[in-house]
Amino acid sequence: APLAIFPGRQNSKGFDLTSPVDLARIEEARAPHQETLFEAAPMLAGPVAGAARTEVKNPATGALVGHMLAASAADVDSALTHAQAWTAAPAERAAILRRAADLYEANFGAFFALLAREAGKTLGDAVAELREAVDFLRYYANGAESLTHPPHGIFTCISPWNFPLAIFSGQIVAALAAGNAVLAKPAPQTPLIAAYAVKLLHEAGVPATALQLLPGGTEVGIAVTSDARVNGVCFTGSTATAQGIRRAMAANLSPTAPLIAETGGLNAMIVDSTALPEQAVRDVLASSFQSAGQRCSALRCLYLQEDIAGPVTEMLFGAMDELTLAEPWKLDTDVGPLIDAAAHKTISEHVAKARAEGRVMKEMTVPAGGTFLAPTVIKVSGVEAMGKEVFGPVLHVATFKAGEVGALVDRINATGYGLTFGLHSRIDDRVQEVTEKLNVGNAYVNRNQIGAVVGSQPFGGEGMSGTGPKAGGPDYLHRFTRIEASFAGQ
Ligand code: SER
Repeated sequence: APLAIFPGRQNSKGFDLTSPVDLARIEEARAPHQETLFEAAPMLAGPVAGAARTEVKNPATGALVGHMLAASAADVDSALTHAQAWTAAPAERAAILRRAADLYEANFGAFFALLAREAGKTLGDAVAELREAVDFLRYYANGAESLTHPPHGIFTCISPWNFPLAIFSGQIVAALAAGNAVLAKPAPQTPLIAAYAVKLLHEAGVPATALQLLPGGTEVGIAVTSDARVNGVCFTGSTATAQGIRRAMAANLSPTAPLIAETGGLNAMIVDSTALPEQAVRDVLASSFQSAGQRCSALRCLYLQEDIAGPVTEMLFGAMDELTLAEPWKLDTDVGPLIDAAAHKTISEHVAKARAEGRVMKEMTVPAGGTFLAPTVIKVSGVEAMGKEVFGPVLHVATFKAGEVGALVDRINATGYGLTFGLHSRIDDRVQEVTEKLNVGNAYVNRNQIGAVVGSQPFGGEGMSGTGPKAGGPDYLHRFTRIEASFAGQ
């Protein structure tokens, strides 16, 4: 059935990076923000105490980007005391969120500078991320107008560093659109973008009691998910952390408090011998190495049919040689740095182990300094051999024989993860059979498997990859409301 979409949906048009006019506008708008030192501190309806103040560094250069004042235990308590559900009429909430969308677009210069400097995002990724954030704001604003159920109350939103603007904004705006009060806890690697976004949301008219920012690390995360005054949690990050949050909620919160979680994946792509090699290579490249592989949707394990594996890998390695690895704010950069030294260490160890076992098929050289990690291809027997999600520009490749596609699907399902999947094939029956049998949230056919578009490709996983409902889809907002309240007394 066709997807139900909220009336009046209109996606942001973003920028055309092949247009000299658009590029000049971007350069001019981000110039004033390239050296500025930014600040992220708790943004509370009451006074702020603060805990440790730490430096936020640029992952590509190690240069200072700003400071984060973490929230103290007293700040978390104060946020919970002052939080008030957003009682404005749905139409007024929607108007304010639309005004915030306009403000986000107007501030593209600051966002593009920050996305590169704090999160290591290339310009192409930064443009796409701002568009996604703005799309979430407008899409959920439209959805708010048709909601009839009451909000839960206080919602905690914990967001990841890999989409510090789009996922950060998507979570909090969904909770706000439904009328909740939000405590937002951004990833400690990217608090500056979050603080800038909250400033704009307040400027647009979101009340200070409805949206409070609590920067910090694990301690703050634990505090905002294990206080009985919290009525629901929205989390995007690792599967293990989601399980920890679930336990903390079970021990401390009301048993009816929802957890909306988007977690990890062991995402596969199958390329059979009917695929167009050039197209498959282009889509493998984007799916594995764009955003330096730091997307939960990214391709981790590529299955190539044996008889085309040789020519396709040769073409892929040639295409990898054309990738530009450089500082993310340079216009021609394809692959930027990893988010931090800890990520670099974990992934380097994974590559080193494969190298020692003679399984590295392709490596590249990287710029000196920073947290750059070379796009790498590693041979594996299959997705189960990976064991865990490798959150970086590392592609694992396995081969299969004609007649084995059904068994591959079973093996992919058996991992228990189910986020994204890609299939390159020109056999219609196979496309239908495989996509029906796979337990994944987002399956993509004859294209890349990243960059779900709000309103068109609702995004979220199954099994260990997420609770649903999908972000950017028609069911998402309902989970932020008490649907059950409308049945009470009937
Ligand atoms: N929504 C992103 C994508 O589709 C991942 O979080 O790539």
